[in-house]
Amino acid sequence: MKTFYITTAIDYVNGSPHLGHAYEKVLTDVIARFRRMMGEKVYFLTGTDEHGQKIQQSARAQGIEPQDYVDGIAPEFKAMCEKLEISNDDFIRTTETRHKKVVCALLLQLFDKGEIYKAEYEGYYSTRQEQFLQDKDRNEDGSWPEIYGEVTQITESNYFFKLAGYQEWLIEHIKTHPEFIIPRYRAKQVLEFLAEPLNDLCISRPKERLEWGIPLPFDPDFVTYVWFDALTNYYSAVADQPDMWPASFHVIGKDILVPPHAVYWPIILQACGLALPQSILAHGWWSINGAKMSKSTGNFVEPAQFVDQFGVDALRYFLIREMSVGQDSDFSMEQFLVRYNSELANNLGNLVNRTLNMTTRFADSIVPAPAELGEPEAILQAAWTKARDESIPLFEQFQFNVGLERAMSFITATNTYIQQREPWKLGKSEDPADQALLRTALATMAEALRLGSSLFLAVTPSSVAKIRGVLSYEAGPVWKDELVWDNRLTGNAVEKTCILFPRPEKKS
Ligand code: MSP
Repeated sequence: MKTFYITTAIDYVNGSPHLGHAYEKVLTDVIARFRRMMGEKVYFLTGTDEHGQKIQQSARAQGIEPQDYVDGIAPEFKAMCEKLEISNDDFIRTTETRHKKVVCALLLQLFDKGEIYKAEYEGYYSTRQEQFLQDKDRNEDGSWPEIYGEVTQITESNYFFKLAGYQEWLIEHIKTHPEFIIPRYRAKQVLEFLAEPLNDLCISRPKERLEWGIPLPFDPDFVTYVWFDALTNYYSAVADQPDMWPASFHVIGKDILVPPHAVYWPIILQACGLALPQSILAHGWWSINGAKMSKSTGNFVEPAQFVDQFGVDALRYFLIREMSVGQDSDFSMEQFLVRYNSELANNLGNLVNRTLNMTTRFADSIVPAPAELGEPEAILQAAWTKARDESIPLFEQFQFNVGLERAMSFITATNTYIQQREPWKLGKSEDPADQALLRTALATMAEALRLGSSLFLAVTPSSVAKIRGVLSYEAGPVWKDELVWDNRLTGNAVEKTCILFPRPEKKS
């Protein structure tokens, strides 16, 4: 079986990690964990993008060398991954020797094949985007769009990579591989871009203008264009593991699909004789309270601080539950608290507590075997089958928000079942029929909790581990085998209590 090799974009380290970075890591982690749960062998890469103008400027602003600057800030990104319980197998930094060696090898290969040539360039340049511009990039009134910052006219020699020859091939590839770009509607955007003739890609920057980059192996007066450098990370990280390539899945934001990931990267690979990734998934963007994230306006969520305040699973759950993959979403504290309280604390957390509490009070903390099953049990078991059979295909199609909603509605159904059976009343009765019903109710609650919580495993792994812990439940190696209603908790000792999602207002 080929390893499912999945990557995130590598983050620019010109500032601290923010919610957008956190979301992408969590989304990719959920996909990676889900694939592992489904029995696949997974290899998960993330990392940091450490060269280029933006980094050089940030280092200068602090009056330090770029290398010292990136060495200082890259650990923040690694720490964020740990804090978010990201299950990555590797973390690559583009300043590492293992990466630089591969970038140089690919550049040399392309140069030797005649795919890279030197030419004089005269035109416009945006320092902010590190990009050459053309008249077609202007606004209708002739000005330059704000995203480009200051645009200057320059004349300089540079190295160019021949893209145009690959245009028809790429269009064909996209048209014949519907899984190449996810969601599918984004492929349209790529094809629109490819409807215009492709210009060759300038893959160098003269050293006098930008020092902070990988020197071109065939001309030390130039450094490598940061996108050529950055994209190569996906390959360089596994270059010594021949079975790993091609990547199965690149997870990126919608802003870097066209042209870097959907145009430059496949062409670079094809020109180097390397296979193309199977899929590129472009997710949407988070705004905060309806506005673009910005440190200067205070419209900013520090993922690490948020985790300290509410717990890692609260953030992971919210990000995945709230956003429909591919679409944009807004992060507001009100909406976060609504989901936190109504779904995590009062629904799932409540079920955990009721189960532990009543099993402790009425069955000496031992999950009883169920007696005869009645209609409420049959209804709940049918609800389980439905929740399981609907949510798994939704997870497979990256519709995690809807899959979670289905899983959560089974938790709601279980709480409704408890209301119906009223085990607290049965517990006070000495009637043997009530006692039998009580055993059934307690067994059913525990089983429903074991099963229902399993559907959250990829999204809130720590909480599910805690739930399993308090039920003394050791799950087997095959996730799908866990999802059968068979009362396997009978006889297990449970803990007295477990607060998974404390009320936020009680925290200081
Ligand atoms: N370094 C490049 C990527 C190179 S990949 C070979 C880059 N870095 S970035 O730090 O600007 O962005 C990293 C990822 O975070 C991108 O996929 C980007 O789309 C994502 N996000 C940045 N801000 C975001 C939001 N506000 N919301 C969601 N994701 C966002 O681009």
